[in-house]
Amino acid sequence: PASTRTRPGGDLAVGGVGLAEAADRFGTPLYLLDEQELRARARAYRAALPHAEVHYAAKAFLCSAVANWVEEEGLGLDVCSVGELQLAAAAGFPPQRMLLHGNAKSPEELRLALRLRVGRIVIDGLAEIPRLAALTVADEPQRVLVRVLPGVAAGHHAAVRTGVAGQKFGFPIEGGDAAEAVRRVLAQPGLRLAGLHCHLGSQITDPEPFLAAIDRITALLAGIRDEHGVELPELDLGGGHGVAYLPGDPELDLAEYARLVTARLAAACAAHGLRVPRLLVEPGRAVVGPAGVALYRVLAVKHGTDGRVFAAVDGGMSDNPRPALYGSRYTARLVGRASHAEPVPIDVVGRHCEAGDVLVPGAHLPADLRPGDLLAVPVAGAYQLSMASTYNLVGRPALIAVRDGRARQLLRRETVEDFLRREVGR
Ligand code: LLP
Repeated sequence: PASTRTRPGGDLAVGGVGLAEAADRFGTPLYLLDEQELRARARAYRAALPHAEVHYAAKAFLCSAVANWVEEEGLGLDVCSVGELQLAAAAGFPPQRMLLHGNAKSPEELRLALRLRVGRIVIDGLAEIPRLAALTVADEPQRVLVRVLPGVAAGHHAAVRTGVAGQKFGFPIEGGDAAEAVRRVLAQPGLRLAGLHCHLGSQITDPEPFLAAIDRITALLAGIRDEHGVELPELDLGGGHGVAYLPGDPELDLAEYARLVTARLAAACAAHGLRVPRLLVEPGRAVVGPAGVALYRVLAVKHGTDGRVFAAVDGGMSDNPRPALYGSRYTARLVGRASHAEPVPIDVVGRHCEAGDVLVPGAHLPADLRPGDLLAVPVAGAYQLSMASTYNLVGRPALIAVRDGRARQLLRRETVEDFLRREVGR
């Protein structure tokens, strides 16, 4: 985070809280969230896109404090499960400002969303249309968006590229599936079609795919106007805004994105004689990723026969599955003490029982790295704790918020007692 400072003696402080001190107080592995950094990122979205609605994608990471922070900064919330929906609602997030996603929404989810009066539901499949319509009435129609596939491929890994046909989400524009979904939604008096949605993929650093998507979606909007005589008032361009994990990595430039997207939408609408729809965006990673830091303690240092050095830490693929799942790259940095030893490549590995449990291959770390040392991994706020597992019955780490030199615990560490408590039979 921007608040990171080196302290005399070699410790690093984030949000004014020393990492060594935080490790002593809360234990490791530990995740830190810099509240001011997250809030500043949320605010930057509002400032860059003053006429858009910005929905924070809860899937990147959600807890009650984060729900409150993004709410206070004026963002909406994209949720995709009963868990996200109920946790946010319990934290006081207004359901009217939520948008429900999902390719497999359960009857329970739909009923809860309607009961809480969630602002928008994103339709992802044909069968969902009559199912949702059966739960609504014409005097109180549910506002919905239809998720379309513009046929634009973007994102850091095949597993997250969702803007093209041949994967489970949405309706392809090409071939007419999207137009058919729109027809069926418009035929339901209990559903009010507000607009179209697309989500191209995640960790996109170039604005160009978003512009291509705008062109294809506005053409569909014009087709809908011609066929039905309605101009849909909303267009949700999804999230996927990329951040830098390594020094020198590109990241999506928010100001440039805002400028290009706004201009392209205006031009494409003008070309079709359409009114410009209200824009919605759903960033997750770009709001929370750089605000997070993971902190581990080195438990063992091993010198392999081939000259490789492994530093095994007390976390791993259970708290950060991204390297194992997608080959995602990170950096690691020694904190808590100064070292003048020469930096050498060291594989930072986890504690789990798989050779693939490598958090940072070839990290540049001092040659005198030893057990007891602390390693910080920055840009750890998105899709780490939210995707954490209890593999090997390793409890999920604690999370603290740091701000103005103060640390407060948001999530406690998961313990063996938690595992035992889940067991209801043998
Ligand atoms: N909207 C929708 C409909 C989404 O599916 C997603 C992410 C977002 C918004 C937010 O995307 P973001 O701005 O965070 O990129 N676990 C993967 C990323 C999966 C993204 C899933 N959908 C990873 O760790 O790279």
